[in-house]
Amino acid sequence: MLINKCLFPVAGYGTRFLPVTKAVPKEMLPILAKPLIQYGVEEAMSAGITTIAMVISKHKQAIKDHFRAHPEIESSVQGTAKASLLDEVNYVTEHCDFTYIEQQQMLGLGHAIHSGQPLIGNEAFAVILPDDLCTNVGDSVLAQMTKLYAQHPDCCIVAIEEVPMDEVDKYGVIDGKLLDNSDNAYRVHNMLEKPDSADAPTNLAIIGRYILTPEIFTVLANTQPDKNGEIQITDALMILAKQGKVIAYKFQGQRFDCGSIKGFVEANTVFLKTSFM
Ligand code: G1P
Repeated sequence: MLINKCLFPVAGYGTRFLPVTKAVPKEMLPILAKPLIQYGVEEAMSAGITTIAMVISKHKQAIKDHFRAHPEIESSVQGTAKASLLDEVNYVTEHCDFTYIEQQQMLGLGHAIHSGQPLIGNEAFAVILPDDLCTNVGDSVLAQMTKLYAQHPDCCIVAIEEVPMDEVDKYGVIDGKLLDNSDNAYRVHNMLEKPDSADAPTNLAIIGRYILTPEIFTVLANTQPDKNGEIQITDALMILAKQGKVIAYKFQGQRFDCGSIKGFVEANTVFLKTSFM
């Protein structure tokens, strides 16, 4: 196994979902009855990853509780039809190791990923942003990416999709050249974080799935904050892209932007249709 660990940067406040996120972590918001974070961990497992590393904050204990045994609930549903409702999360809890580190300051995604270094060490790792919920009938998006990484073990990989040009300012945007014999993987030569549409080189937007080589930690340590004082993973990756070490992968499947209320409701609607109708 080339990728053994998956990092989840989940310390953010989730202010777009206030007031619910005052007391409920946004990663615990449910698509049907399952929280976003569980979909993310299940996607990591589908790529053969069972070491889960979370960069968390003290306000998000509910995430830890979700992946802990709960003997009282277990015994209250034992022998009833509801017992099976716990099967999936119990499977996750039993098969994964969870490690946590608290992020002290919110200084951007790059800073959050850098904060996870003690949990990752000196090896390549995956990153999942659980508010990007991805589905596919075949291999999961992260499983597709780990297969590509196996062919390019010196490179970082970012997942991309085409978005409308007037939405590029919500994303990291890449420019690149298709790899030989590929119609979905680009060697990246330019990356911009949330550009104005007039400045965006393409409409190829980065979504919340990354495979990063440990080199990224050294680069992040030297990455300057942007104009908002945040350290961006996109800026750090741009340093490696200049050395030809970043590949952007146009994944197969569907992504729901559950960081927005519209995308969150859409995901619930689609999942409801596919589950019960
Ligand atoms: C982050 C990244 C951005 C990426 C996005 C994907 O932005 O900084 O490059 O396109 O995730 O969801 P955020 O949505 O955290 O502002």
